[in-house]
Amino acid sequence: VTIYVPGDSGSLALGADKVALAIASEAEERGLDIRIIRNGSRGLYWLEPMVEVETAAGRVAYGPVKPRSVKGLFDAGLAEGKGDHELSLGATEEIPFLKRQTRLTFARCGIVDPLSLDDYRAHGGFRGLERALSMSPEEIVAEVTESGLRGRGGAGFPTGIKWKTVLEAQADRKYIVCNGDEGDSGTFADRMILEGDPFVLIEGMVIAGLAVGATKGYIYMRSEYPHAIEMTEKAIEIAREANILGPSVLMSGQAFELEVRVGAGAYVCGEETALLDSLEGKRGVVRAKPPLPAHKGFLGKPTVINNLVSLASVPVILDKGGAFYKDFGLGRSRGTIPIQIAGNVRHGGLYEDAFGLTLGEIVEDIAGGTASGRPVKAVQVGGPLGAYFPPELFDTQFDYEAFAARDGLIGHAGLVVFDDTVDMLDQARFAFEFCAIESCGKCTPCRIGAVRGVELADSLKQGEPGVGQIDLIRDLCDTMKFGSLCALGGFTPYPVLSALNHFPDDFRKEARREAAE
Ligand code: NAI
Ligand code: SF4
Repeated sequence: VTIYVPGDSGSLALGADKVALAIASEAEERGLDIRIIRNGSRGLYWLEPMVEVETAAGRVAYGPVKPRSVKGLFDAGLAEGKGDHELSLGATEEIPFLKRQTRLTFARCGIVDPLSLDDYRAHGGFRGLERALSMSPEEIVAEVTESGLRGRGGAGFPTGIKWKTVLEAQADRKYIVCNGDEGDSGTFADRMILEGDPFVLIEGMVIAGLAVGATKGYIYMRSEYPHAIEMTEKAIEIAREANILGPSVLMSGQAFELEVRVGAGAYVCGEETALLDSLEGKRGVVRAKPPLPAHKGFLGKPTVINNLVSLASVPVILDKGGAFYKDFGLGRSRGTIPIQIAGNVRHGGLYEDAFGLTLGEIVEDIAGGTASGRPVKAVQVGGPLGAYFPPELFDTQFDYEAFAARDGLIGHAGLVVFDDTVDMLDQARFAFEFCAIESCGKCTPCRIGAVRGVELADSLKQGEPGVGQIDLIRDLCDTMKFGSLCALGGFTPYPVLSALNHFPDDFRKEARREAAE
């Protein structure tokens, strides 16, 4: 019997190792011949550790499993995939949260053994690379352009155009850099790929290398992801032994090497030019653009720097074709987006679907509303620099342009849900404080503005009379938005102004209290 127990860090944090041990010893006691595979997470985090058993009719799931439930689960027939137990979830693929998704980038995540090349191949892996090997660099770039894929880090720049710029640049060396510095609050898509299906990223990066003529790639990730680092390094080693990396990629004649680089945890190192500085061994400070990294990037050479999810979406595009991918989505947002649902929700996790779901569908239907059972007050979309959306804007469709039209951004597609106990003045203060702590210090609006913002929020909270703090906050946000060099200072106004505009009472209440006294 094959039993799957997730081994990604989300599940490990919930005790998956102890569950795996309990299953192994219970099976031994009962004389059962079982094989435990440590897969990645399917992304249904409220059910983790979610144990799956292979049956003739497909996999069946149980969760969330605690070590103390294991004996009872075996008594109820877990080894035969029987479902008479309170933790029984039935056929995995039929769980509504999973069944409703369209998984293209995450097609294998949580299904395969993350470090098995055979498993990867058996589930469609390397078909994109094989096709790319029969194409010219221009044809590969054209396929990615045709797909409509845009940067999944948040800016949404067309990936095909970025690759074309690097392909056309003349240089003796070119690089592919994967931005896996997943720093947004409530996001975990990069980590899930690295821990659940690392070969898809490797495949995407090799294809990028073939497309633009780069021979070396770097995967930049955070030191806070030790498990992901270990898995990725192992996957690279395995790929190298199989000639998927090395002096000649699958006998193509073109070399491609990969290396993992670990950052020290500064949020700003997710900004592409600060990341490149960090990669070069310097302190991560934002560079002025131009020159674009596509012209002068790592060590001054033309560099494709893409978000991890963008690169992990390339294999399916090459395998099934740009037109297939483009068929999903709406407007200029084509394909699928892995939405990460976190915060105060009943069903938190990863939900990949075509662009176009409304925020209300995601929060109310898919995530099942708040875990606390209280009404939703606000949803922050796109990380700590994203806007807060009130329920009145729940008809906003998940799409780059629709969010921008409502003074928001989808960022790396992370959602953090808050119930009605949240104080939006505190959240605005948090945005300024976050910016003050994480600022690289290069430009004045961000370095000094963020500190002034914290002071203003504090003075508003204390109800200091006659200072005109709200006008000053708006003025400060204007300066930061238009005067900052990068998105850290430039986007801090999004959470602040959305809090102020959608929840004005929270900013008035201290003054009201004072008036009442
Ligand atoms: P940007 O709009 O300056 O650039 C987007 C990308 O396109 C960059 O890689 C840039 O080098 C490239 N590019 C632009 N013009 C090009 C051309 N003509 N040829 C080739 N490449 C070109 O945006 P930036 O500053 O890179 O990112 C800002 C975004 O980052 C925001 O929209 C925000 O959503 C997102 N963000 C994401 C975070 C995360 O943790 N994922 C955190 C903070 C912000
Ligand atoms: Fe550095 Fe902030 Fe200026 Fe960005 S906006 S360059 S983080 S000081």
